[in-house]
Amino acid sequence: SNPHATYARCAGGSGSLQRPIATHLEPGAPLTITSPAPSDALVFFGATGDLAHKKVIPALYDMSRKGHLDVPVIGVAFSHWDIAQFRERVRDSIETHFGDIDDEAAFGRFVASLGYVDGDYAKRATFAALRKALGAARRPTHYLAIPPPLFGVVVKELGHAGLATDARVVVEKPFGRDLASAQELNGILHSVFPEPAIFRIDHYLGKEETQNLLYFRFANSFLEPIWNRDHVASVQITMAEDFGVEGRGSFYDEIGALRDVVQNHLFQVMALLAMDAPVSSAAEDLRDAKAAVFRAMRPANPDDLVRGQFIGYRAERGVAPDSEVETYAALRLWIDSWRWSGVPWYLRAGKQLAAHVTEIIVELKAPPHAVFAEAEPSAGKTNYIRFRFHPRVEIAVAARVKIP
Ligand code: BG6
Repeated sequence: SNPHATYARCAGGSGSLQRPIATHLEPGAPLTITSPAPSDALVFFGATGDLAHKKVIPALYDMSRKGHLDVPVIGVAFSHWDIAQFRERVRDSIETHFGDIDDEAAFGRFVASLGYVDGDYAKRATFAALRKALGAARRPTHYLAIPPPLFGVVVKELGHAGLATDARVVVEKPFGRDLASAQELNGILHSVFPEPAIFRIDHYLGKEETQNLLYFRFANSFLEPIWNRDHVASVQITMAEDFGVEGRGSFYDEIGALRDVVQNHLFQVMALLAMDAPVSSAAEDLRDAKAAVFRAMRPANPDDLVRGQFIGYRAERGVAPDSEVETYAALRLWIDSWRWSGVPWYLRAGKQLAAHVTEIIVELKAPPHAVFAEAEPSAGKTNYIRFRFHPRVEIAVAARVKIP
């Protein structure tokens, strides 16, 4: 309907990364949309690392056995390993984090699709070896499962080696440590890859329960009339974990709770709860609707932030003995929009807490006048809507009923 900018979702083959593309048209021009071709190889840097062992390899194996991974996979790392050692590590990763290998044929097919390149990320020779390992593949997706200080190094070398042409890049968190470093990293990415080829990922967006927030809000009409400052007293998003940093001390001590889970996971959840209805479910439309929330968000005020650290954190391997890094953060935010003006948003997240619970409470305002004496509106007696992600996925409505 808009002749200037039409957004279309790409149809694509299985196992390929797809994103909607924008086509800019002059008024009256015929509508032609070209989809970028699917990736024909997956390269993942950090192949011998912790993230690969715990998450990436088990996920790739799962895709492979379901027939969803039809491209070669090449691991890159600097561990002085050979392909045999890498394959052993792959078996161990699957057995430890996925489950017993009950289908050796499927495992064999997966392993056969794997390649491995060992080398220093700062050396051209590593990327020359990668180019060779890619063989006939021309449109790789490069997934950076590596420490954040190496993002820029690898991206630049991909550019030098000509491995960025028609390729895509996937960047894990944290994307910089503050605005300036995030902008710098963005600048490096843009100097090598065009924006549609850059994927800044957040695993929370892959969760069914996160996606369901959007669906539940906008596939139904009953929430919308109350989803605003007139009816909502506060919104509380809690991510409590009853475990510590689990061997990730050196990673965590550079980052802390705010960068680890608040500015990414909880902000994404907040945006899905706060945003206006997007024009469509296409990625660009969702991005625009979320961006409007962040534009309306007041900068966080230090007086509205509490930071804490669990006892014993400083004794964790990789953590500085005098570390000031927070393992707990609670903050109050405000969104200055017609919908949310005056409604406080409370976000809190922490490790080594009493329970492992992830949930959202949308607290509704009390009735304006108490008709029933025992229903005196007071704290804890109002209605709320709860979205729980963990330990069980549920959506609940708290309402008062008469006690017989
Ligand atoms: C990760 C954080 O991104 O998210 C971890 O680095 C955190 O510290 C984890 O425990 C929580 O995600 P999930 O999906 O396990 O609830």
